[in-house]
Amino acid sequence: MFYPPEIIAIKRDGGTLSENQITQFVKGITDGSITDYQSAALLMAIYINGLNKKETAALTKAMMFSGATMNFNDPTVIDKHSTGGVGDKTSFIIAPLAAACGVKVPMVAGRGLGHTGGTVDKIEAIKGFQTQLTLEDFQDHLIKEGVVLMGQTGDLAPADKKLYALRDVTATISSIPLITASIMSKKLAEGAAGIVMDIKWGNGAFMETKGQAKKLARSIVQTGLSFNRHMMVSITDMNQPLGNAIGNSLELIECFETLKGKGPKDLEELSVHLAGGMIHLAGKSKTHKGGIKKAKAALKDGSGLACLKKLIAHQKGDAKVVDQYDLLPLAKNKKEILAPKSGYLTHIECKNFGLHCVALGGGRVKTSDKIDFGTGLYLHKKRGDKVKKGDVLTTIYFNDNQKEIVSEIESQILQKDIIIKNKNKTSYPSLIEETKISLVAGEMSC
Ligand code: URA
Repeated sequence: MFYPPEIIAIKRDGGTLSENQITQFVKGITDGSITDYQSAALLMAIYINGLNKKETAALTKAMMFSGATMNFNDPTVIDKHSTGGVGDKTSFIIAPLAAACGVKVPMVAGRGLGHTGGTVDKIEAIKGFQTQLTLEDFQDHLIKEGVVLMGQTGDLAPADKKLYALRDVTATISSIPLITASIMSKKLAEGAAGIVMDIKWGNGAFMETKGQAKKLARSIVQTGLSFNRHMMVSITDMNQPLGNAIGNSLELIECFETLKGKGPKDLEELSVHLAGGMIHLAGKSKTHKGGIKKAKAALKDGSGLACLKKLIAHQKGDAKVVDQYDLLPLAKNKKEILAPKSGYLTHIECKNFGLHCVALGGGRVKTSDKIDFGTGLYLHKKRGDKVKKGDVLTTIYFNDNQKEIVSEIESQILQKDIIIKNKNKTSYPSLIEETKISLVAGEMSC
């Protein structure tokens, strides 16, 4: 007989769970026969004692099969996932670039989480854009259009939805096997033949150290390969926001500009790197380098932008928005934060910039909160930049009822979120620390 306390006790005492025990437990979570307090106890036991490779794969599999799964049987269907950060908006650039090069991109994206923004919240700044699709519509759009974006549905990996909500309130989020199973169960259920993972580390990421990010990368790759998926992982820097814009409409505008070749260099570099990986995993280029070359060409000749327009129109948004930015909700007021002294910008408290955006209504504190799409922040100076006293460091975009919040944000930015020193600190983390590509045939390239 299946007895949940026995399974909890095995993991509590540092033992190993069988695939069958894990499957039974996840089944019980999904159908409600296991209580939240039993699930929470198991989560904490896993958090403390971990899961080995086999257990992680078993948990991923059980969570993946807790709901519907899709299977396109198409080697050109490749997805991308980022572990999240501040100003991380690459999906709107990568997906159309890859699609313009013949990759089919099925994006099931999330909403903002804590200080990090969400792809679904951002695209919903476009009036009319539909993110709630049925699985049939999702598959249909992918086959016909080559790219589709929808929000998480209760149909895909419902066990993750329950477990994630419990982890959020039981201090069990930052566990490598639990994060692996959570991300991979959803990605595998989407039916892609390959997955490109952007694993962020730093003071604006969930993984604060490079070491943690590398461990998560290994765990994710092993799990993906055990399900016969091609995998690429990049470890990337999130010790400062990506690009300059933070906030839903502001970030979309930055993506449109990037697809026109006028975006910030860091955002463009990471986007073509990841899109290049998708093109390679889809078999549309022999090497990752060749994929990057194709992604750059799609950016230069406008075919990536044309693909994004098609995606917006197909999902009932107004595609004119990519040229007429005033079709987006924009905040009424601006406040410029000026540099109090000359020197070099040496440090940015990245997570705090994400939290400032949330405080301005650009993210949620409670799940029921409505997003204020037009608010946010724009960084005119980034790490390593030379600054003259009186230069604009940051512009805050806000609405009429937010003056008090804005002055709090201003004093925080000046007191601790941006540090200016006389001398430039010469070494900063590189944007793309490491990339590994593992094809299921066992071939490895870097
Ligand atoms: N994103 C997820 O989907 N799950 C996690 O556990 C962490 C980030």
